[in-house]
Amino acid sequence: MTLQTRAAARLSVAPMMDWTDRHCRVFHRLISREALLYTEMVTAPAVIHGDRDRLLGFSPAEHPVALQLGGSDPAELGAATRIAAEWGYDEINLNCGCPSDRVQSGAFGAVLMKSPDLVAECVAEMIAASPVEVTVKCRIGVDEQEPEEILPRFLETVAAAGVRRFTIHARKAWLQGLSPKDNREIPPLDHPLVHRMKAAFPELHLSLNGGIASLAAAEAELAAGLDGVMVGRAAYHEPMNILGAADMRIFGAGAEADPFAVARALLPYIEAHLVAGGRLHQISRHILGLFHGRPGARLWRRVLSEGACREGAGVELVEKALAEVEAAR
Ligand SMILES: Cc1cc2nc3c(=O)[nH]c(=O)nc-3n(C[C@H](O)[C@H](O)[C@H](O)COP(=O)(O)O)c2cc1C
Repeated sequence: MTLQTRAAARLSVAPMMDWTDRHCRVFHRLISREALLYTEMVTAPAVIHGDRDRLLGFSPAEHPVALQLGGSDPAELGAATRIAAEWGYDEINLNCGCPSDRVQSGAFGAVLMKSPDLVAECVAEMIAASPVEVTVKCRIGVDEQEPEEILPRFLETVAAAGVRRFTIHARKAWLQGLSPKDNREIPPLDHPLVHRMKAAFPELHLSLNGGIASLAAAEAELAAGLDGVMVGRAAYHEPMNILGAADMRIFGAGAEADPFAVARALLPYIEAHLVAGGRLHQISRHILGLFHGRPGARLWRRVLSEGACREGAGVELVEKALAEVEAAR
């Protein structure tokens, strides 16, 4: 499974709180059979004490899927990893990149860039508890840190504890004064630094993250020697543009996805969700970008966003939206 997950990591969809939930991942999986999908971050204490069905439950259709954990207590992370592994995740990832206040107060996320020794202790516990590969997602540094100096030390220290695969969000995080959103936009991207890390650590599997806006841009990074590319916002807002041809172009498998077929293939999943007491909106909010940049994109978005919250909204609404897009072709 490690090898399979590594291969899938050539292109991955980033962990995004409130966005890459299980419904979103099922939708993405219908577009790309091959890409690696990450969950939203779940904190280790939540896994240990919380509602596991809600936090960890996922559909077998989502494989290969990686769980991202947040935490900074080695024993807690080990315990959470043990539990998560039982649920059948293909990879467990430690978040060392998230700068939100809530995360800082628990002393984890991007602040861990300042404590590589603690991260090494954390991943050692996780590796001991995990039958699947343990990976790390990090930044290039935080606050006044000098990325060129601290990033190699971070990678070296964490690799010495057994991690062989990292995803690097190629910008700093400012722990004070910037909102999480600003922290994804304002600190400048430094893609060349990630390439230099690959040259310095050829034995590590390194994925680049941050600002990749097209499949062609992802292909260029891979061609330039990186092992993987992780795409966040673009994959969410324009899933067909990033994932639609990924199986063919990145993985040399399968054909280009058709957005109409994707929407139709999602209908039974939506139906099952509704029968189980769920709401249409919980799924349809993730698929608004399906026709991004294509004829009928606005109609699709409008029909779904206006109708999905109504009491009793069901698959007919998605069928209606599809018919309108088809008519607009
Ligand atoms: C809504 C949203 C939620 C996010 N939540 C997480 C998270 O839970 N864990 C994490 O490591 N990064 C999180 N991120 C950061 C992304 O994983 C990614 O690193 C960032 O968006 C940069 O990639 P992009 O430019 O391709 O979007 C989030 C980003 C967004 C937009």
